[in-house]
Amino acid sequence: MNSVDASGPWLDAARGAGLVDAAGAVRPNIFAEMSALAVRTGAVNLGQGFPDYAGPQEVLDAAAAAVLAGRNQYPPGRGIPELTSAIAEHHRRFYGLDVDPATQVCVTAGATEALAGIILGLVRPGDEVICFEPYYDAYAADIARAGGVQVNVPLRWRPGAVGRPAGFDLDPADLRAAFTGRTRMILVNTPHNPTGVVFADGTLALVADLAAEHDAIIVADEVYEHLTFGVPHRPAATFPGAEDRTLLIGSGGKTFSVTGWKIGWVTGPPALVDAVFGMKQWLSYVNGAPLQPAIATGLRLPDAVYTRIADDLRARRDRLCRALTEVGFDVAVPAAGYFVIADAAPLGFADGEAFCRALPERCGVVAIPVSAFCSPGRADVRSLVRFAYCKSDATLAEAVRRLGTLA
Ligand SMILES: Cc1ncc(COP(=O)(O)O)c(C=O)c1O
Repeated sequence: MNSVDASGPWLDAARGAGLVDAAGAVRPNIFAEMSALAVRTGAVNLGQGFPDYAGPQEVLDAAAAAVLAGRNQYPPGRGIPELTSAIAEHHRRFYGLDVDPATQVCVTAGATEALAGIILGLVRPGDEVICFEPYYDAYAADIARAGGVQVNVPLRWRPGAVGRPAGFDLDPADLRAAFTGRTRMILVNTPHNPTGVVFADGTLALVADLAAEHDAIIVADEVYEHLTFGVPHRPAATFPGAEDRTLLIGSGGKTFSVTGWKIGWVTGPPALVDAVFGMKQWLSYVNGAPLQPAIATGLRLPDAVYTRIADDLRARRDRLCRALTEVGFDVAVPAAGYFVIADAAPLGFADGEAFCRALPERCGVVAIPVSAFCSPGRADVRSLVRFAYCKSDATLAEAVRRLGTLA
């Protein structure tokens, strides 16, 4: 059979995400590759960030009721009023931010579509987009597809030492240097995937100042906003000068442990939200009709439910961090989110990618190399790997047992 030419702009996205090799072959993204490896080898999958336990019962019940009540047809483009109002109430209740549900909210197919709508809708060829590196892989794919130029600000690995735990450092001078006359946008992911860093107030204030100085859009990817462990989350939009230029992204899937539902949202100034909707309508058009009222129910649940979700996740974090430390990894205990980064170098593994490829055979666990979230050549992250702890007690117990065999 003659093969039809399947080249096209999708390859720009693949190239941006580092998935095209020197010969032009495209490989699957690392999460797909590692999840397939987990299935093939029967390994415990601590690679992909999805909880394997149920979200709040009220949210699940509301979705089932909406399906049975027949709420199964195309919803309004920007989301059902019940959900857009619940998002506005949520922003007021937790952050004191006022958004008009009619003009300042757009519901999207997960935070993923919010990112695509924003970047494809607002980044012009040649525009510079600042990212903190390591970065969520969709950023690089979307920026490349839009013809933008990605400018990275490193979060540098700081190994643990006596009296000082491992972690990540950001040099404000690097952030200042990243802004130029061509800066269109800065993507701020706080709490941050994969590092679990919650950005300090000083960093967010500096982002707001620099963005104002350069007339840049701030895109605040805050999908882990409610999954923090004793550290307050402060939205980037709440810093002086930021509100009028910030698009805030949330994810019902992450907040309520229903990642497969793909209900996300963008809020911000009306003109920017219009632009995002202008793009979104040609992507999914609309999404998740019966899941939207269920996420609205979730957003209106009492504070105690949010606290319970975060406390529960914190206990999972502690369990996995303890086990990794006991095995001999240098562990950066995350302040938030689904993931922990651990350095495999103390165990004698200098190459995190090779380590992750060998780990399923070696001890039956899957993890993701941090290099997958970086541009080529970041030497300080080479031996780092990311483990997900948003897993059930049974999954974690088995993972901990298997990781113990590495010691
Ligand atoms: C930082 C970050 N942004 C966006 C997303 C995508 O979220 P959603 O599942 O709502 O599309 C993820 C998912 O892992 C993420 O980690």
